[in-house]
Amino acid sequence: DKGNHRHFMLKEIYEQPIVVAQTLKSYVRRLDEQVSLPTPDFDLGSIRRVTIVACGTSYYAGMVAKYWFEQFARVPVDLDVASEFRYRAPVMEEGGLMIVISQSGETADTLAALRHARAEGQKIAAVVNVPTSTMAREADLLLPTHAGPEIGVASTKAFTCQLAVLAALAANLARAKGRLNPREEKEVVRHLAEAPAAINGALAYDEAIEAMAHLIAPARDVLYLGRGTDYPLALEGALKLKEISYIHAEGYAAGEMKHGPIALIDENVPVIVIAPSGPLFDKTVSNMQEVQARGGKVVLISDYDGIQAAGDGCMATITMPKVHPLIAPIVYAIPVQLLAYHVAVLKGTDVDQPRNLAKSVTVE
Ligand code: F6R
Repeated sequence: DKGNHRHFMLKEIYEQPIVVAQTLKSYVRRLDEQVSLPTPDFDLGSIRRVTIVACGTSYYAGMVAKYWFEQFARVPVDLDVASEFRYRAPVMEEGGLMIVISQSGETADTLAALRHARAEGQKIAAVVNVPTSTMAREADLLLPTHAGPEIGVASTKAFTCQLAVLAALAANLARAKGRLNPREEKEVVRHLAEAPAAINGALAYDEAIEAMAHLIAPARDVLYLGRGTDYPLALEGALKLKEISYIHAEGYAAGEMKHGPIALIDENVPVIVIAPSGPLFDKTVSNMQEVQARGGKVVLISDYDGIQAAGDGCMATITMPKVHPLIAPIVYAIPVQLLAYHVAVLKGTDVDQPRNLAKSVTVE
């Protein structure tokens, strides 16, 4: 049932404040402000290396998580798409934890990676949305997302719930490794608890994004740029746009532009820049200005301060609530999803059932 929404995708985008809150409820305790994961039958503190494997949007959630595991827990992280993982003879030593991330819990490549890692003696944690799925059954540590059934083929609410779980897992691992003191843990919990309201704040810009979609719909190619945890979001934005609107889109690390893709820039290639204000803002803005200096038309997604500082000269801006960098990837997922959605609606594509795609990819 789509409720009063035109598509499942839009309904699922709008469910995010609730399902992220629901998911967080099982991973953080508000009372004593601690992260609380199901207790694994192995010692998290003994984990020496993490391998994250997934496909598509779930892979981009894993890419955000890599930044968090390294930053908070100081654990080395290996990250790969599941279809490549086994074929490069990955080195997996004792004390390794594999984390698979999957909405369906059935994606064939991810499942094969899980089994390969198990055979190599790795502990397995599974972040899955379908609790009865094969991956859920085969994991040592099941970390469910509580997004509810996701019907739209393009993943939306599963992604933000995956990020919520992975942030809690990163904090838990950091604590187990003695890298997060109680005061820092409380701060992490407080920031995460702000996510649902911030997502609501982001949804309030839906109409503005819908109006802006007219600027993107005529394009043949679109670039997305981001730095740090906004880089995976740039990749996710490009994936969302291409899969439902059929516009060719690429995500790039903002600093990588000048190593090639900047040659594509002209007034016909809109560039979406994801740049919340924070420690990486100035660097990303200087990459954005390189684009503008070559006649590129930029859409800047930032908060009020960021747009005040750098919004002049942009074709359009999208104002997000000001949030802590930890939850920025969760909040900035919303404009990226809404933009793809509205462009697809303008183009008249089948938003919930894009051509050639299946909700669950059970062939390798
Ligand atoms: C993108 C999308 C796909 C899936 C990918 C993995 O919107 O839906 O890229 O993310 O097929 O699927 P799961 O998460 O079920 O393993």
